[in-house]
Amino acid sequence: MSQIIEYSDKVMEHFSNPRNVGEIENASGVGTVGNAKCGDIMRIYLDVDENGIIKDCKFKTFGCGAAVATSSMATEMIKGKSVEEALKLTNKAVQEALGGLPAVKVHCSLLAEEAVHAALWDYAQKNHLEIEGLKPPVDDIDETKEFYEMSGEQ
Ligand code: FES
Repeated sequence: MSQIIEYSDKVMEHFSNPRNVGEIENASGVGTVGNAKCGDIMRIYLDVDENGIIKDCKFKTFGCGAAVATSSMATEMIKGKSVEEALKLTNKAVQEALGGLPAVKVHCSLLAEEAVHAALWDYAQKNHLEIEGLKPPVDDIDETKEFYEMSGEQ
């Protein structure tokens, strides 16, 4: 028997009209994470200026509606922020900004938090920077690699 999941209006709004969809050419940092269990994948691109401010941020999400909505909200929340501030973005804050998520969809917001961290990690590596509190990204992306190979993406 299928279960009906109820989403907040805000989640539905970001799912129907997601902000910051796309990619950034020559991005300062790119982070891709996947959840092997549900098979969903999220990629976040950052454009960071010389002062460490995130000027632009885009995402591509191959996943469920909650993953799309959380990517949309997470990118909105880190745009214009410093990399240190972006690192502090938690999945809880994204959920709250979306008016909550059903319990079975909480892991989707974790994907957004991890994708932001992975993009920040890539930015730090490229620029030989150490950002306090930034850890190597969670790497649950074996299926991701296969997916990108299949789709011809890098
Ligand atoms: Fe996997 Fe939403 S069900 S990210």
